Amino acid sequence: MKNDIPRHVAIIMDGNGRWATRQGKKRTEGHYAGYKMLKKIALHILKKGVKVLSVFAFSTENFKRSEEEVGYLMNLFTEGFTKDTHYFLENNVRVVFSGRREPLKDKVYNAMMKLQEKTKNCDGGILNICLNYGGQSEMVDTCKKVAELYKEDKISLDEINTETLYKYLYNDLGPVDLMIRTSGECRISNFMLYNIAYAELYFTSTCFPDFDNDEFDKALLDYQNRNITKGGNSKK
Ligand code: IPE
Ligand code: IPE
Ligand code: MG
Repeated sequence: MKNDIPRHVAIIMDGNGRWATRQGKKRTEGHYAGYKMLKKIALHILKKGVKVLSVFAFSTENFKRSEEEVGYLMNLFTEGFTKDTHYFLENNVRVVFSGRREPLKDKVYNAMMKLQEKTKNCDGGILNICLNYGGQSEMVDTCKKVAELYKEDKISLDEINTETLYKYLYNDLGPVDLMIRTSGECRISNFMLYNIAYAELYFTSTCFPDFDNDEFDKALLDYQNRNITKGGNSKK
């Protein structure tokens, strides 16, 4: 094997809708199946030794979808995060959230913050759920945060560099080593733009509700056998 287990894995959990419609089900059933799969693979991935798993659950752009679909997803998040607090606690998973507060309803935001607070001392790996998240918005918010600190004399220009900037993102989780997108789409869709600078990209046609432990192991094996140079010389 050329590479160790990646420290940070990111997944664009795509294809829930197509997975459902192909079986004559409602798109919302695909979201439910996707959430169930996330709970399962998150444990598997963190048990493999991955320290941080970032998942794209809902983009700032996803608010363009129908009221019914957005409403269903918001309820799924609210109920899921509330009911599954024990699941994450028992499995020692620390859950954090990345994204903007507005325009999430209070009940959704409160469920997110409660889960984050209750699991804050878990040390069996971090699950970073990106919800109402956009990569460009994160950069804008980061610029504003840094500008504010500079204005208040709390940071000097010398302190701002490519390493320290991670501290001012939504969560300080470091670079992504492996980025996976399910469902056959080959684009980034505004996900973790700063962190993925040198991520290895893995695209699979499998839709997210079918992306199980074995599918992840395939992606992992592919990653571990890649020639990762990050601008240096090839190891071959
Ligand atoms: C990803 O699946 C989940 C969210 C974006 C919330 P999609 O809902 O995008 O599924 P497809 O791409 O329409 O199949
Ligand atoms: C990206 O998927 C967002 C999530 C997986 C939550 P989309 O289905 O929204 O992205 P596009 O529209 O195909 O780029
Ligand atoms: Mg999609």
